[in-house]
Amino acid sequence: MSTILDGKAFAALCKENIAAEVERLAALGHRPGLAVVLVGNNPASQVYVRNKEKDCKECGIYSAMYTLPEETTEAQLLELLDVLNHDNKIHGVLVQLPVPKQIDPQRVIEAIDPIKDVDCFHPMNVGYLTQGMPRFAPCTPAGIVKLMEHYGIDPAGKHCVVIGRSNIVGKPMSLLLLQKNGTVTICHSGTADLKAQTLQADILVSAVGKTGFVTADMVKEGAVVIDVAMNRNEQGKLCGDVVYEEVAEKAAAITPVPGGVGPMTRVMLLENTLTACRLQCNLD
Ligand code: GUN
Repeated sequence: MSTILDGKAFAALCKENIAAEVERLAALGHRPGLAVVLVGNNPASQVYVRNKEKDCKECGIYSAMYTLPEETTEAQLLELLDVLNHDNKIHGVLVQLPVPKQIDPQRVIEAIDPIKDVDCFHPMNVGYLTQGMPRFAPCTPAGIVKLMEHYGIDPAGKHCVVIGRSNIVGKPMSLLLLQKNGTVTICHSGTADLKAQTLQADILVSAVGKTGFVTADMVKEGAVVIDVAMNRNEQGKLCGDVVYEEVAEKAAAITPVPGGVGPMTRVMLLENTLTACRLQCNLD
């Protein structure tokens, strides 16, 4: 049987360390602060935003939540971001994606001051990441790397196969694995023979968003399998891309859904908020 990469348990440990660091910074006169902006009524986004607020509270981070109506204009959102960019109690600014269709997400991403960009979505921060000197860690991929480190899994010299090329997960995941000296293959909807690629993987990361997408016949014996997806199956139950039971039989290690990658993503947002605070307040 495979090792279960328990993101939930490790995240709880990480949060204790974060809370201690928050109090150290607060004692120096700088309590880290995070602003989260939600535009519209996307139910999944509402859950994510509520979780972020809860995480901040638990760790002593000051949090400011802004819930704007579905019909908010791009100009109104950009105006709020300008205020937050200049608010010195706020060190991190995050706009929950997706935004309603009248708003261009790229304009929103570029309107956040790069030094407050705790999502690491701004082109300047993506550039730093690409050049191998990240200022912020993109939350989901960085959470995965941190979880792997905790379990002693080192991508160096390994063949890492990432399924998905999104700006949020697939691309930054590939860059972080490369930075850790993995040999990286990025697969996507246009990949000709996906199974031939995934069977090569020592570390397989799936970020597709389709229940049942990764089956045991696609996985090499002894591989590490990371499931990034948060899907709902026909019964409405939360599940990933990977057919967990059968893949767990073959894998050396596997993340469950829920309780694998998700809690680590949340931890990394808190970590980035601390990084942002230290950067803006010139603290070590
Ligand atoms: N929507 C889904 N994932 C994310 C994320 O990591 N950050 C933001 N801002 N929105 C998201």
